[in-house]
Amino acid sequence: MLRRILYISCAAEGTTEQALRQIIATAQLKNRRRDLSGVLAVGKGLFAQVLEGSQADVGETLARICGDSRHGDIRLVLDVPTRTRIFDRWSMALLVEEAAGELAHAVRDDRREATDLIDHLRDLLARDPLYWSSGLRTLALAA
Ligand SMILES: Cc1cc2nc3c(=O)[nH]c(=O)nc-3n(C[C@H](O)[C@H](O)[C@H](O)COP(=O)(O)O)c2cc1C
Repeated sequence: MLRRILYISCAAEGTTEQALRQIIATAQLKNRRRDLSGVLAVGKGLFAQVLEGSQADVGETLARICGDSRHGDIRLVLDVPTRTRIFDRWSMALLVEEAAGELAHAVRDDRREATDLIDHLRDLLARDPLYWSSGLRTLALAA
């Protein structure tokens, strides 16, 4: 049995595009070694991240992520056992898209279900990467 989690956190003040690229590079490298998959969506001032993989690897990685000073106020909004992966093609996809960011805010504020956000991220990744990766440069990360 696998485990899938989704958390939403607040990006540390002054998080830059450069910092984001570093986070993703590390995540992709480490996740590939552990056979973890998922997506990191970035909204104004927040991160929403899905991680899926073995119980042990998701647990260990989440603990590491929770101790990272590049973000804070981490809220676990979904934690489910599963037999199948949703993001199996991605060790960690970086997704910057306005609607995803707004949905992440709504999930965080309990105005929408966590599964709505996951469905949205899955649908986005099924589209052309040019569509969901082009927002990075224009995004103001600080809230
Ligand atoms: C928003 C965010 C998402 C992250 N996602 C991952 C991830 O998916 N996998 C991972 O190994 N590290 C991830 N990291 C980085 C970890 O927090 C940690 O810095 C990294 O794994 C290196 O840990 P180590 O120095 O203890 O080896 C993330 C960090 C942040 C701020």
